[in-house]
Amino acid sequence: MHPDISSLVDTRNGTLDPRIFVDEEIYKLELKNVFARSWLFLAHDSQLAKPGEYITTFMGEDPVIVARQKDGSVAAFMNQCRHRGMRLCRADLGKTKNFSCTYHGWTYDLGGRLVNVPSEDDAYRNGIDKAEWGAIKVTQLATYKGFIFGNWDPTAPPLTEYLGDFTWYFDAFVDRCEGGLEVIGGSHKWVFPANWKFAAEQFCSDMYHVPISHASAALALAPDDMEADAEIFPLDGTLGRQFTSPWGHGTGFFTESGDVLGLIVGREPGEWFQGGNPEVVDRLGTHRALNMRGMHATIFPNFSFLPGINTMRVWHPKGPNEMEVWAWTVVDSSAPPEVRERLRIGNLRTFSAGGMLEQDDGENWSEIQQVLRGHVARQTPLNAQMGLGLDWDDDPNFPGRVNRVYCETAARGFYGRWAQMLSGASWDELAVTPPLESVRQS
Ligand code: FES
Ligand SMILES: [Fe+2]
Repeated sequence: MHPDISSLVDTRNGTLDPRIFVDEEIYKLELKNVFARSWLFLAHDSQLAKPGEYITTFMGEDPVIVARQKDGSVAAFMNQCRHRGMRLCRADLGKTKNFSCTYHGWTYDLGGRLVNVPSEDDAYRNGIDKAEWGAIKVTQLATYKGFIFGNWDPTAPPLTEYLGDFTWYFDAFVDRCEGGLEVIGGSHKWVFPANWKFAAEQFCSDMYHVPISHASAALALAPDDMEADAEIFPLDGTLGRQFTSPWGHGTGFFTESGDVLGLIVGREPGEWFQGGNPEVVDRLGTHRALNMRGMHATIFPNFSFLPGINTMRVWHPKGPNEMEVWAWTVVDSSAPPEVRERLRIGNLRTFSAGGMLEQDDGENWSEIQQVLRGHVARQTPLNAQMGLGLDWDDDPNFPGRVNRVYCETAARGFYGRWAQMLSGASWDELAVTPPLESVRQS
């Protein structure tokens, strides 16, 4: 039996039960009630630009194929043959006319329809109704500004409603120029021995670790003429904001800072992001164009990004004790070649499997997972109280519920939403019950 769900996350007091990171029963429930009901990022349009191009990915632990159709639309379906359940496609990506199962040869078209069964007349003498045995389609599919999301739950609200009040912040990343973002290069994938929520929560809510965990990387990365000091990572939490959405999404950023992007990914991409792209102020206004620096963000549950550094990743769950990280570098489609190249190299150096800052983060997550092997450690509540009860909703520059940048408002929002979904609450109940409602103090 899993522990009482209602006691796992206490947003009123800001505490977390560590079993949410290690318990097998909770993990199974998480796949069912969180991953099979949430809008999950599948692919970016630029990854399957032409008809026949496809990628394979996961929704929770369910493998799916996302393919560009002949008419330009996108289809997504289970990467599972209906005969004996073999993985239909074992490539990461490619271009094809159809998907042929390597076990007995059942063949599906780009939309997942079963179109050929070997020896159909001879072997299936009574006939087989191929129309009934197509691959299982992802129930809901939607695209927002080039980002393709899927959802297994027919009762889930539309994607635009799910993105909700986070949309204004998401646009600061994805709508900076005509044509939006595009993915450059391939993907980086690595398996990591920690629960996926440590990573998703950190990108949602944790600027607090940056000056400490990344101090040595910052010193090593700083160009000779730049001092990696408190001006770059301000220690004054009033010089930034953290935002939480009732849908579980969150972000944080400095409003004033030194050249934090220049330090991490290099001066050219840093300057391009903060004022160098002439369209941005017109499209987004001053605050979003210039005063959201060193931003981190997570779209609930497991899609995260760092605007400016321009890494984007999905934390695929692989059991309670393991995740598989899939990371991409994205860039404004109007960015010049030197900015693209500097971003590509900057991300390799900082946020990739061998990246300096990635390793700082990963060490923390995997060490926690090791500590939680202990019987007593698993029963010791964790503290998520930073800024508790001190949020505000009327910031003149930043909409929605916000707090100072060093805060755990978005972590409480993330885990509060996770616990609500885990409990199996219907979408009707979820839509009207923001997870932080009981925490708000005026
Ligand atoms: S499992 Fe795919 S054809 Fe048999
Ligand atoms: Fe970090």
